[in-house]
Amino acid sequence: MSARILDGKALAAEIAAETAAAVAAFVQSTGVQPRLAAVLVGDDPASAVYVRNKQRACQRAGIASDLHRLESDASPCQLLDLIDRLNSDPLVHGILVQLPLPPSLDTTRVLDAVNPWKDVDAFHPQNVGLLAQGRPRFLPCTPHGVVQILHRCQIAVSGQHVVVVGRSEIVGKPLALMLMQRQSPVGADAANATVTVCHSRTRDLAAVTRQADVLVAALGAARFVTADMVSPGATVIDVGINRTHEGLVGDVDFASVQHVAGAVTPVPGGVGPMTIAMLLSNTLHAARLQTAGL
Ligand code: GUN
Repeated sequence: MSARILDGKALAAEIAAETAAAVAAFVQSTGVQPRLAAVLVGDDPASAVYVRNKQRACQRAGIASDLHRLESDASPCQLLDLIDRLNSDPLVHGILVQLPLPPSLDTTRVLDAVNPWKDVDAFHPQNVGLLAQGRPRFLPCTPHGVVQILHRCQIAVSGQHVVVVGRSEIVGKPLALMLMQRQSPVGADAANATVTVCHSRTRDLAAVTRQADVLVAALGAARFVTADMVSPGATVIDVGINRTHEGLVGDVDFASVQHVAGAVTPVPGGVGPMTIAMLLSNTLHAARLQTAGL
């Protein structure tokens, strides 16, 4: 058996095209161009590539984007001053602080400083709280990308057992919240799952992952999920992006898992492009929220 390959790259292009059309209509009716401010601190090459890809995608969708770069030895004041300026700039609708920040900076303090109405990553505690209560303002980009892949590939999670491996603030935790809700902005089929979250202290992890109808690997360990951890026919979503000497690999051992799973996302070309597509959609949403009532 060979799994169906869930083509995130193609779906992301579809979503980006929908967003580009919605951006054009928004500009036409309001005269306002959505604008994203990306903040990059330090010289981590991978972060620079991610930010460049996000900016290019913005340009293609008709969203203006500015890059604000600070040196890796920037002080907390410098960064917080920049965020303050962006928070109060009426031309900026979305603010994205690329993570990870250099260790000398307090990530929580920085993310808490972003205006929650411009928080297109949905990392601010106000937006996390709204998500947890089932009334999200913004959906976090990577979890939303996962939900969109499932939804657009007609893989309903309602009533299904979803096992999420990884409890990060960026992926595992918010994804579990989204999937367990009664309602989803994406549709009821994209919610109402029975969700199990596994992590480094989970006892007999493989026994748990084998119970999954949908298994999400978001732990950040190269090729960690192997065929013996997957129930035959299950859907496997690989959120990992690990740089190894063999290039980029996911958290799933694709070579073995593809013979057991019913469907699987590749790396690259799976969840990664969806994260960027959902960022575009959040930036437009931010512009709408800030333009309503003007
Ligand atoms: N670093 C890794 N993933 C992300 C993300 O989704 N947003 C930001 N801002 N930084 C990241």
